[in-house]
Amino acid sequence: MKIVILTGSGISAESGVATFRDTGGVWAKYDYREVATPEGFAANPSLVHEFYNERRRNIGMVKPNAAHDALAELERGLTSRGGALSLITQNVDDLHERAGVENLWHMHGELKKATCVHCTGVWDWIEDLTNKTRCPDCKATGGMRPYVVWFGEMPRFMDEAMVALGDADLFVSIGTSGSVYPAAGFVGLARDAGVSCLELNLEPSENAHLFTDSRYGQATEIVPAWVSNILS
Ligand code: APR
Repeated sequence: MKIVILTGSGISAESGVATFRDTGGVWAKYDYREVATPEGFAANPSLVHEFYNERRRNIGMVKPNAAHDALAELERGLTSRGGALSLITQNVDDLHERAGVENLWHMHGELKKATCVHCTGVWDWIEDLTNKTRCPDCKATGGMRPYVVWFGEMPRFMDEAMVALGDADLFVSIGTSGSVYPAAGFVGLARDAGVSCLELNLEPSENAHLFTDSRYGQATEIVPAWVSNILS
């Protein structure tokens, strides 16, 4: 069985990672145009670095929850039966990796990596970034930025995601509000390809009506229950 899973910030919420659009979420505290766009970075790099430095520090203090662990168990169970899991995450945290998931694509980038706008190098990065941080390769300063996809930039691994979606037996969306494209469009593509679609979320997402099945509740409860159902 080939399963494609899309995850959003809701799967990391119970680990202590803030979601974006829930009450008190990230976008209730920050204007995304100022901290998550190339224009915002050009206008005020220090504010953008401060925004991501705080989130990068927080990631170091949280750990995977039962939902992350269940998806790693699902991948092991599927591959041992000759199947496959393709996990596409909108999240920039590393909780899926730390839970043990291997076939993972970060379509919005990774908080624990940095890139240089001058030489486009990419490095694992856990320290704070500032506009004085020197690029390890080209030695320029002022160009180091989080390896995160900002609004208006092209998400990564889209070709791989399209192939996986068209070839899947099941598409599952977990912990996302379905409000940001292209991720929010995956369910429509899956349906058009005749793939069954399941939503696992705290509450119906904006595109809940497109799913053939849905279960609502806390991810740490509904995801392990669904995985043990699939593997039994
Ligand atoms: N269990 C399951 N679902 C949850 C939980 C939980 N404990 N807590 C919250 N949720 C659900 C919410 O109901 C909501 O539908 O997770 C979803 C989170 O939605 P958003 O805050 O919009 O986050 P997300 O969908 O990941 O945002 C997508 O938007 O700002 C950009 O780049 C950012 O990757 C992000 C993208």
